[in-house]
Amino acid sequence: MLGRDLMSVLLSSLPDDEVIGWDIEDIDIQKEDDTVYKIDKLRPDIVTNIAAYTDVDGCESNEEKALSVNAEGARHVALAALKCRAKMVYLSTDYVFDGNKREPYLESDSPHPLNVYGRSKWKGEQYVQELVKDSLIVRTQWLYGRYGKNFVTSILRQAKEKRVLSIVNDQIGSPTYTVDLGKAVSALIQFDARGIFHVANSDLCTWYTFGQAILKLSGMDKVRVIPISSKEDGRPATRPSYSVLNCQKLKKKTGLTLRPWSDALKEHLSTYRPSMG
Ligand SMILES: NC(=O)c1ccc[n+]([C@@H]2O[C@H](COP(=O)([O-])OP(=O)(O)OC[C@H]3O[C@@H](n4cnc5c(N)ncnc54)[C@H](OP(=O)(O)O)[C@@H]3O)[C@@H](O)[C@H]2O)c1
Repeated sequence: MLGRDLMSVLLSSLPDDEVIGWDIEDIDIQKEDDTVYKIDKLRPDIVTNIAAYTDVDGCESNEEKALSVNAEGARHVALAALKCRAKMVYLSTDYVFDGNKREPYLESDSPHPLNVYGRSKWKGEQYVQELVKDSLIVRTQWLYGRYGKNFVTSILRQAKEKRVLSIVNDQIGSPTYTVDLGKAVSALIQFDARGIFHVANSDLCTWYTFGQAILKLSGMDKVRVIPISSKEDGRPATRPSYSVLNCQKLKKKTGLTLRPWSDALKEHLSTYRPSMG
């Protein structure tokens, strides 16, 4: 999902650079030797690792795969970056936090993940920081965009099939548009940012409010939405009840503040056609 939008943004914002995108058919980051060989052969200046096992509930029953892709995979890419002296960018998640802070998380706050996915991504962050001096770690959250499955596609699909939807109303975060995130990652690269940065669209909401906005903007607000608790939802992975990210460091470094999530959603839904994914 993020990969395709990030590629478009980087290609247009860095016209003098060569930007190459690889998917799992080109490189399986679980394979150490192959990953180091392929990246080193290319001799890049910057390696961006956004590959991940992103099925948060699936990670609970497949911890081995979560650690293999999200932590060991990150280590393999970091080893490659180290070998060819490239800068490394690693995409991470708000799910490294437990949600108990109840105010926007700073980059300096201590992670305490509640689920396997969050633990595997935090381990990935640690490998990257240990191995690549001056690496850039971008933590983001609640992504949606034109490509791949996400909350927006799921709500639109369910709204076609059902008259009543139940949506969780006790988790608070900031839905983030992959195009806006891509622009922020590109800016951080151009400003040669190092360390951890939080990046998300502004304003906060619950999944329930986000779902209502999707239905309203798509002209489907006749579908009834019932707010439920995470407990009622009963998903295998525990999510933080509050994972809003403080993005002031991004603003300080690049001058960028991402627009409110509702504005980004409006733009997305004005152009999005389900066949795009
Ligand atoms: N989605 C969110 O809400 C969210 C929130 C915070 C952070 N993030 C992070 O943002 C990044 C992008 O997320 P996304 O939502 O765009 O994820 P996505 O759509 O699931 O994309 C991840 C990509 O990684 C690929 N991949 C999986 N295992 C791999 C391997 N061993 N080697 C190489 N590629 C592999 C996947 O291929 P297959 O599809 O073939 O498996 C997929 O193309 C991830 O690092 C994720 O952890 C996402």
